[in-house]
Amino acid sequence: MLLPADSSLLTSKHPMHSEFIPFHKPAIGEDEIRSVVETLRSGWLTTGSKVKRFEEDFARYVGCKHAVAVNSGTAALHLALDAVGIKEGDEVIVPTMTFTATAEVVLYFKAKPVLVDCQPDTFNLDPTQLEAAITSKTKAIIPVHMAGQACDMNEILSIARRHDLRVIEDAAHALPASYRGKTIGTVGDITCFSFYATKTITTGEGGMATTDNSEWAERMRMMSLHGISHDAWRRYTKEGSWYYEVVSPGFKYNLTDIAAASGIEQLKKCNEFWQARQRIALSYEKAFAEIDEVQPPLCRKDVQHAWHLFVIQLALDRLRINRNQFIDALGEKEIGTSVHFIPLHLHPYYRDKFGYKPADFPNASTVFERIISLPIYPKMTEADVERVIEAVKSITQQNRR
Ligand SMILES: Cc1ncc(COP(=O)(O)O)c(C=O)c1O
Repeated sequence: MLLPADSSLLTSKHPMHSEFIPFHKPAIGEDEIRSVVETLRSGWLTTGSKVKRFEEDFARYVGCKHAVAVNSGTAALHLALDAVGIKEGDEVIVPTMTFTATAEVVLYFKAKPVLVDCQPDTFNLDPTQLEAAITSKTKAIIPVHMAGQACDMNEILSIARRHDLRVIEDAAHALPASYRGKTIGTVGDITCFSFYATKTITTGEGGMATTDNSEWAERMRMMSLHGISHDAWRRYTKEGSWYYEVVSPGFKYNLTDIAAASGIEQLKKCNEFWQARQRIALSYEKAFAEIDEVQPPLCRKDVQHAWHLFVIQLALDRLRINRNQFIDALGEKEIGTSVHFIPLHLHPYYRDKFGYKPADFPNASTVFERIISLPIYPKMTEADVERVIEAVKSITQQNRR
């Protein structure tokens, strides 16, 4: 059974229809297939030289000192919090507008995720609301670069430094992205990427944690493989030894060479993929600028947006249908969509455990009612993009107030 890490792959209503434009198609080509097959034939399937190469390539690509490959973005976030020393009873600030993984990892430590509202235009964590959420127990902030647009990192970092908090960026959407000329992956204390099937580059499942701090990198590497002292994977090679020491009760988060084989090839095409998504974003922006009922995403001047997602907001007061009906109408026109995200405070677990109400986070609660993520990926043809635009336009026209 396919268990997607978010709802993106679940939204296709008619996945077998030839005309259907799915919400996402991974950009897997012959290079990835060849590389994976070569790895399968090599006899070395799990963490080995391919993972090492992927880490080196990734560190060079973002311009950081250390990149630690793991088997999911969630694992990267978990290891990052462990590395900076999160403990039971601590508090970690997390935006409510995110996927559950961002907050769930805090709960792994019996620490408390403290939710903060988003900005109504970028959907990113609102730094002006940070100070009010900080207590004597707060140890870290996890900004999420929503859809691939960097958060206001200067503001977030300066508040964090003032209160001696660590900043772990959730960059699951933000490859490649930059903030004021600095590549995401080099800005905060530790940055966590995801290579889940719908992400901008994919290894099926996978993740990477980047940092310039050698101690944190070493800790994450060790904890990703049972807390075994360094280079454990070498023990099955000619240079390796059978001897190893467990220095901490770690996790089983190592990436396989099979997955890394795909990652190495995907990373080579990361810029090309970005250009393709950027072209689609520009087409959408231009087309939707003419429609009052549809607001394209706000893109700040000081960022390079990764365009992992293209999230439109509906002006519901101008329409006779709601967001769900709009999604259904797009489905009837054979267009797959998704919603990023159902804010955490609206989910039963977070609502019941922490007593959050919709009014506690007015921006996220309002935005949630209005957002739709449209397809945006390199495998879309110009005709596909045109069909999405036409569908949005015609649904809008037919349902104008
Ligand atoms: C914002 C965000 N954070 C974290 C994750 C978790 O990444 P992964 O699925 O690789 O564990 C995801 C999505 O899957 C995400 O969208």
